[in-house]
Amino acid sequence: MPGIHNRIRMAVLGAALTLSPLTHGAEAILEGQRFHPVEGESTMVATSHFLASEVAHDVLAEGGNAVDAAVTAGFALAVTQPRSGNIGGGGFMLISDESSGEVIAIDYREKAPSAAHETMFQDEDGNVVPERSRFSANASGVPGTVAGLALALERYGTIELEEALAPAIRLAEEGFVVPPRFANGIREARNRLERWESTRKKFFKADGSPYQPGDVFKQPDLAATLKRIAEHGPREFYEGRTAELIVAEMQKHDGLMTLEDLAAYEPAVRKPVHGTYRGYDIYSMSPPSSGGAHIVQILNVLEGYDIAALGHNSAQTVHLMAEAMKRAYADRSEYLGDTDFVEVPLDGLTSKAYAKALREGIDADEATPSDTIAPGDPLPYESNETTHFSIADDNGLAVANTYTINFSYGSGIVVDGAGFLMNNEMDDFSAKPGVPNAYGLIGGEANKIEPNKRMLSSMSPTIVRKDGHNFLVTGSPGGSRIITTTLQVIMNVIDHGMNIQSAVSVPRVHHQWLPEELRIEAGISPDTVRLLEEKGHDVVTKSAMGASQSLLIDDDGFHGAEDPRRSTSSAMGL
Ligand code: DON
Repeated sequence: MPGIHNRIRMAVLGAALTLSPLTHGAEAILEGQRFHPVEGESTMVATSHFLASEVAHDVLAEGGNAVDAAVTAGFALAVTQPRSGNIGGGGFMLISDESSGEVIAIDYREKAPSAAHETMFQDEDGNVVPERSRFSANASGVPGTVAGLALALERYGTIELEEALAPAIRLAEEGFVVPPRFANGIREARNRLERWESTRKKFFKADGSPYQPGDVFKQPDLAATLKRIAEHGPREFYEGRTAELIVAEMQKHDGLMTLEDLAAYEPAVRKPVHGTYRGYDIYSMSPPSSGGAHIVQILNVLEGYDIAALGHNSAQTVHLMAEAMKRAYADRSEYLGDTDFVEVPLDGLTSKAYAKALREGIDADEATPSDTIAPGDPLPYESNETTHFSIADDNGLAVANTYTINFSYGSGIVVDGAGFLMNNEMDDFSAKPGVPNAYGLIGGEANKIEPNKRMLSSMSPTIVRKDGHNFLVTGSPGGSRIITTTLQVIMNVIDHGMNIQSAVSVPRVHHQWLPEELRIEAGISPDTVRLLEEKGHDVVTKSAMGASQSLLIDDDGFHGAEDPRRSTSSAMGL
């Protein structure tokens, strides 16, 4: 696989090298830094696009900290990887500061507009109409990215917002050389992008043809938007000209979003979910994401087995993982939602005692059919794209950031004159109890649509610490598969002793309770599949899951991993 991948990579970047001034990252990759952990002595950046890695790496080289680099990467990805990098969406950032001992989470998830209501994606007969929650103006929640990134910089950064935006503005204004992944993405989404005039104008040439690898892609409207934010600050997006352009676009297509909705948007600073796994501290995203709760819950269940001895991706290990995953996803469907609106039994879900109770229901030899699993009783009741990047500096600051517009290219609607795509995150709400969303996830009351509420997410930016020190920074895109992808990177390092590149690269498995299938990537041995089938699992091989740009810090320094599932993924150390 590395050989094939490298050859594809060489072809992709060969074009970029001859045509672009913006290719330092590409050169580094061509010099052979791939498929073993990228080493750095004191800093590391791993993102899904080499141009974003490069500008974030430059910030660190010039003395900026990990948050400066993360915010710079976030804005750069909004330009270079518009299928998921964004200012029209939202996400979560975990920041771990060794010097204060603190780990905080910035929640910049989108919110439902104030006129949103429970049945807005149903027709008059009460049937869910997926088109409405996915490909319409009402598919969009109020975006949080600009406010979230600005808040991170204000709290933890050392550079001005203007400086963090400068590389993104340059990339939008001067353009960058289109890699094949970019061209392929547009080609695959062509039908739904061409429906909207503003989107056609942005993503297709004047003659209507798509951009080809090697073409230079410029985004003057987006450059102007980013410049307005640089000049007037983040509130410009919510209260200035950009807000007016967003609302004009939404209303042109009968959307509910108003200027008041944008003006009212605020990110939230939250306490991450915390758990332990075999002596390591796990910090991951709290609600409105389900990620942290279920990663900790599944790890707690698996801690009761000698996973290292059972072996990586052995039938017995995969069986136990699948059984733990099913039970967690069943709980997700019942309990998880925005804690500003509903109570979530987080302490119960993440307790070792609940994990023990779940373990007692797991048969070591036989799969429990999903239709006999229901959400558990975690008492006490206390109270197709996303992108993840991981960055750490030499002052004990680490950042795990996952942000998204939900599907690749979100709703498909570009804000005319502002040059960016709007999200279709409203599909992450439960449009009707028991009716699955685009990722097959089922939800109920806790995740019903309510005005100003944040839709439930699976995004799981995660930081693992050992003895108070940042150790592993990880996370992934992949919808419902985010939780299990992130879980496996953690297990591959802690249980199976893999280096970070192997931990990210090896084949993954996934079970989400419903549908009743154990989904695997190519590369799991047929012997293992047969043994799993004998235990009663319905094993299905499907396309690759996740893209986990991750890093690990140990006594030998900083190690970065590029996920080979994304051809533009790039780690760079200093
Ligand atoms: O927040 C969530 O869980 C989803 N909107 C994430 C979507 C996603 O990861 C799509 N990527 N492949």
